[in-house]
Amino acid sequence: MPIIPARLERTPDGVLYSSAFDDVYHSPEDALGQARHVFIAGNGLPERWQRRERFTLIETGFGAGLNFLATWAAWRDDPLRCARLHFVSCERQPFLREDLALIHARWPAFAALAAELQAQWPVLAPGLHRLNLDGGRVTLTLFLGDAADGLAQVVARADAFYLDGFAPAKNPDLWSARIFHLLARLAAPGATLATWSVAGSVREGLRRAGFETDKVRGFGGKWQMLRGRLARAAAEDAPPAAPTARHALVIGAGIAGCTLAERLAERGWRIDLVDAAAAPGQGASGNLAGVLRPLPSLDDNRMSRLTRAGSLHGWRNIANLAARGFPVRSDACGVLHLARDAAQQAKMRAVVERLALPPEHLAYVDETRAAQIAGCAVAAGGWWFAGSGWVQPPSLCAASLAAAGSSVRAQFGRPVARLQRDAEGWRAIVADGSTIAAAPVVVLAAGVGVRDFDVASGLPVVSARGQVSHLPASPGTAPKVVVCRGGYVSPEVDGVRCAGATFAVDDDDTALRAADHADNLDKLDAMLPGFASGFSAARLSGRVGFRPASPDRLPMIGAVADASVPPLKPELAAVARQPGLYVLSGYGARGLVWSALAAELLASQLEHDPLPLTRDLCEAVDPARFVVRPPATGRIDE
Ligand SMILES: Cc1cc2nc3c(=O)[nH]c(=O)nc-3n(C[C@H](O)[C@H](O)[C@H](O)COP(=O)(O)OP(=O)(O)OC[C@H]3O[C@@H](n4cnc5c(N)ncnc54)[C@H](O)[C@@H]3O)c2cc1C
Ligand SMILES: C[S@@+](CC[C@H](N)C(=O)[O-])C[C@H]1O[C@@H](n2cnc3c(N)ncnc32)[C@H](O)[C@@H]1O
Repeated sequence: MPIIPARLERTPDGVLYSSAFDDVYHSPEDALGQARHVFIAGNGLPERWQRRERFTLIETGFGAGLNFLATWAAWRDDPLRCARLHFVSCERQPFLREDLALIHARWPAFAALAAELQAQWPVLAPGLHRLNLDGGRVTLTLFLGDAADGLAQVVARADAFYLDGFAPAKNPDLWSARIFHLLARLAAPGATLATWSVAGSVREGLRRAGFETDKVRGFGGKWQMLRGRLARAAAEDAPPAAPTARHALVIGAGIAGCTLAERLAERGWRIDLVDAAAAPGQGASGNLAGVLRPLPSLDDNRMSRLTRAGSLHGWRNIANLAARGFPVRSDACGVLHLARDAAQQAKMRAVVERLALPPEHLAYVDETRAAQIAGCAVAAGGWWFAGSGWVQPPSLCAASLAAAGSSVRAQFGRPVARLQRDAEGWRAIVADGSTIAAAPVVVLAAGVGVRDFDVASGLPVVSARGQVSHLPASPGTAPKVVVCRGGYVSPEVDGVRCAGATFAVDDDDTALRAADHADNLDKLDAMLPGFASGFSAARLSGRVGFRPASPDRLPMIGAVADASVPPLKPELAAVARQPGLYVLSGYGARGLVWSALAAELLASQLEHDPLPLTRDLCEAVDPARFVVRPPATGRIDE
């Protein structure tokens, strides 16, 4: 379902109003006062979050984010606040960024926080969006879409709920029995709720879902409000044990390992990072420029939703790193994906119409417009991803490690021969038998090298050789955007354009091959007619890398299965895992698309934070999926 932004409307008195629901967004007396009295105090805050590691709030309707801003401000003002605050919210009709700015301008006390929220405000695309705010200490996980879908798909344990829809009579679907049951399912032991509504249907619905409620003094014109607490015995849901020692051993310093190191460092972990190469970003992640963009589909399938989430998060991660003083060599110059023929062009147009995503994210352009964008002749029209572009992977590695700072102890030039588990955790052992690092948690981020570890023998990581060609280019020449069609060509970066790439499974040849350059030039010629004629395959330079591919083209993110314990049922939850052993691999031809989101997902899993991906997508990337459904043998492609 496309996301239709909310219209900015006000009542004659200036209160934020929705004509679609014929109701106001907040108490006409004072939005901030309502947030403080009803939602914050109504949930026993700030006291309940004090001295805790983390506190998680779930809200039903995000609206203009006024409750969120008030909560964030209250948390900042509290010297005894929890270390990390998680706010999860759902919104079917989000405001456009510029409207949010106009709304927030009426609360100057929040100016700095509101500006930070607006700066990270996501592209209004369906699904989950993870915003890391306030130096990573405040996390907003925002589901854009219907709350019933969002609450069914979100993976989180809430300590408190804000029930804030429009009036139940005008907005019944946000106060339904289904919503209340979903909230109960997401509740941590002792979870509380608060809402301004005391409607009988709300109290009854909450009671049926297992919440005890009582009426207390309301705010403004409302005499009463509702407070509640989950009544069920907490035995069934003992909270997951928090990590005791925040210390991880990460094998591999490509984009998988480096982005993870940064995410863990921000959460207060120590990281021992070990790589066989002399420096970060020397394996598959060593290219001059790669493409970071989504892959939409007519049915918005898993690949489509995952690449959209990964691309949006990837660009937000790059912006965050830059804002913290760690710029990544990259340019969101836009990506043109040209159709291979008229039939595909029509299909691409249909995808754009069906998904109805914001045009700055995905648009359809005909051949004439595509040529204008590219600045040269193109073979066809197709998709225009104006917010996408190219990224230099080694620079992403370097910026991530710089941001992680002294939390990372890196050892380069150290090939790990094997991993061994003992009572303390995992040890990385080199060829002479000595242990070079040890930690309770180990993450295999070794690209195709994952295949060399016995403990990961059940993971079907496949090596896919890729050769990229470097075409000499002058600054400012066309194309100034990335162009794709079968292959891709980047704008000029440091005097060359990257054109690629070949894809050959189980081919270990590290030498550059003229035939592969010729292949890349053929693809180039097919998208930009005549462009390749000035280059000779025999004289080009380039780079060879080995992609860690996966049979279903989806990454492997999470805990590694224990192959010695066959699952009793063909379900992910029934698959036994090796304690403390995790993997980040299988990134295939889309490492830039997966890396930042995968790192955030694994770091969130390790910390038992709310997850940044919906449940179905977490399951799609779970490494144990190959135990439940062994991969079909057959062709592996990009
Ligand atoms: C030609 C080519 C073009 C590509 N184009 C794009 C693109 O346009 N867009 C995109 O998103 N992706 C692209 N990719 C894919 C992307 O580059 C990869 O998916 C990504 O780099 C994989 O990152 P990684 O960290 O998993 O692996 P790597 O970067 O290979 O890192 C793994 C690291 O582990 C280390 N290691 C391995 N074994 C051991 C061991 N036993 N002990 C210690 N260290 C070990 C290695 O030295 C290496 O540094 C391309 C890849 C290639 C090859
Ligand atoms: C009262 S307003 C919330 C105000 C908000 N909490 C704030 O602090 O600004 C209710 C919000 O719920 C949203 N909403 C209504 N029905 C919804 C649904 N089924 N799923 C998701 N959001 C919904 C509305 O679009 C609206 O933004």
